[in-house]
Amino acid sequence: MSAASLVPPHGGTLVNRIVSKAQAAVLHEEAASLPRIELSNKQACDLEMIAIGAFSPLTGYCCKADFESICKSMRLANGSVFPIPVTLAVECDVKATLAEGGRAALYHADGTLLAVMDVTEIYSHDRDIEMDGVFRTTDDAHPGVKAVMDEGDWCVGGDIHVITVTPEHDAVEQFPEYRLTPAQTREAFEAKGWKTVAAFQTRNPIHRAHEYLCKCATEICDGLLIHPLVGETKPGDIPADVRMKCYETIIEHYFVSDYTMLSVMPAAMRYAGPREAVLHAVVRQNYGVSHFIVGRDHAGVGDYYGTYDAQEIFNELNDGDLAVIPLKFEHAAWSNKAQGMVSAKTFPKIKGDQIFLSGTKVRELLDEGQRPPAEFSRPEVADVLIDWATAEATVAG
Ligand code: ADX
Repeated sequence: MSAASLVPPHGGTLVNRIVSKAQAAVLHEEAASLPRIELSNKQACDLEMIAIGAFSPLTGYCCKADFESICKSMRLANGSVFPIPVTLAVECDVKATLAEGGRAALYHADGTLLAVMDVTEIYSHDRDIEMDGVFRTTDDAHPGVKAVMDEGDWCVGGDIHVITVTPEHDAVEQFPEYRLTPAQTREAFEAKGWKTVAAFQTRNPIHRAHEYLCKCATEICDGLLIHPLVGETKPGDIPADVRMKCYETIIEHYFVSDYTMLSVMPAAMRYAGPREAVLHAVVRQNYGVSHFIVGRDHAGVGDYYGTYDAQEIFNELNDGDLAVIPLKFEHAAWSNKAQGMVSAKTFPKIKGDQIFLSGTKVRELLDEGQRPPAEFSRPEVADVLIDWATAEATVAG
């Protein structure tokens, strides 16, 4: 099967900013005399996403024209859709060491030299347009807004030349066997003979509603990519290694391996709801995905976004803006009467019939060593979560 059978990358070309070994050796030498920027976790996640082409067509951190255009109109300055600015914000003392037209060395917090960057432009970080356009709120209780507020006052824009995306000493979960680049997922889809692929984004342990969405999508595509986000998440979210055990467990017991693939996405979570749903779709298109699942309050947090805002935002796009198709799902839950998963589109509403559990309630049950009900979570997945919650309680106690 030819590569042309999969959706094209966003912008037409899959970006690869990882340099050859020979170039890496040259950059290592050059870096020793360059100004130094230590990346935050979010910035390091972004560096990897740019480097591997997951953020194609971006080739570096955004310059001012793109930053403003993205915030205001969800598009790069050249008109192509891009919903969230990928910035390298720095403090004044770091800015003072940089010069436009020069270069800078980018380090992971553990001291690993990750990349050298062209310092094309240094511009004032306009947090107001970022908060208004991207997050639709200025409330610093919103974790994505808080992250932007805590970042530096200056943004550095320019292309990156990446030596490695793997920090040497940081024990951060890497999941090497699941960390496929967009080029590698595309190869894998072709090897499987999949032309249409549905992707499922998640940052939570997989529950019955997630499983229902995945299976509906698998019915209409050649295969399913379960594609959890494993980059930075907010405190309180379940750690990626625990979630990975949940995904492996549910796939083993409840999915068909010929039609299911698990791989990770190293992005940081912004909790930007609708704008982030579009970003997640763009990124999955780069991974070779044709259909992208968007359910209730996708990438939302608290009550900042309406239940279906993340679906409605796709109506603002024009034909041809994206090749990936959003698969929009109603809020799904277990129905006692139907004895299965239903939504408002597939089963009549009967008072008290459906089982809804808040994240807080699930956490309380786990902390008490109790399984969430089988209508909410598969028992094998619940066991993984109970083991983790019990170990956490022992460490804390
Ligand atoms: S998210 O931040 O990655 O969106 P989560 O992992 O909970 O959070 O959700 C993964 C996907 O499943 C999202 O598309 C979300 O909208 C969808 N989803 C989660 N729960 C439900 C539900 N009960 N009904 C319909 N869609 C859901």
